[in-house]
Amino acid sequence: MNTMINLINNHRSVRHFEDKPLSEEQIQMIVTSAQAASTSSFIQAYSIIGVTDEAKKKKLAELAGNQSFVETCGHFFVFCADLHRHKVVSEMEGINLTESIESTEKFMVGLIDAALAAQNAALSAESMGLGICYVGGIRNNLHGICEVLKTPEHVIPLFGLAVGYPARENEQKPRLPYHHIYHENEYEQSPNQYKVELEEYNKTISAYYHERTSGKRADTWTEQMSHMFEKKKRMYMKDFVQEKGLDRV
Ligand SMILES: Cc1cc2nc3c(=O)[nH]c(=O)nc-3n(C[C@H](O)[C@H](O)[C@H](O)COP(=O)(O)O)c2cc1C
Repeated sequence: MNTMINLINNHRSVRHFEDKPLSEEQIQMIVTSAQAASTSSFIQAYSIIGVTDEAKKKKLAELAGNQSFVETCGHFFVFCADLHRHKVVSEMEGINLTESIESTEKFMVGLIDAALAAQNAALSAESMGLGICYVGGIRNNLHGICEVLKTPEHVIPLFGLAVGYPARENEQKPRLPYHHIYHENEYEQSPNQYKVELEEYNKTISAYYHERTSGKRADTWTEQMSHMFEKKKRMYMKDFVQEKGLDRV
């Protein structure tokens, strides 16, 4: 395989970083890589906010559920869905675009664009020998996050990306069986077979956690998912998104 494929397939999240900031060149290269990603209909419906201010980083770490690596990483990026600039476009072109800007479709474009850009950024960083971890924890309190980042209407922070020099690396986390993810020609539904294979996967994941936590944890994937989905999480999101002027139409 080539070096790019090796890099992609060697991914694991890094949550412990050396106390060393990224250089300006590294930051610029990561953002330029993000911008090189494909973007739906050339809409470019996302923004990236790099947070360098120490007080703001501390606040973001707190708001993200006290995830200290948000503060200690080499650089913290926040990826946002952004239709604010299309409001500016509407003013420049003298046309009311509000209905389109506020549609579910354009919100989805913002989500997709931001995710594609972020993964390009992540791979760019990893290719420089840096470690990364996405931080969805910022969605625990988006009112607070928006206040810190001073985001305007039609901009929604989606997740952070902590980047830095790895101080500690985890073992790679085994993924679901290949054909649970990849279907050919049509969605393959074979629940019984699926369950058998998930039992196997459960054993793999349980062993992975057991090893990684020196026996403190050995939960299976289906246990983890059922506990996670059982708890209602961030149920304010629909109201929040609409409050910010997206997904309204
Ligand atoms: C959008 C997104 C949000 C995430 N949020 C967090 C987070 O808040 N905290 C964290 O420690 N990991 C977070 N992760 C990392 C995942 O937990 C991790 O990717 C997953 O467990 C697989 O592990 P791996 O990346 O090491 O392969 C997030 C990942 C994604 C894609």
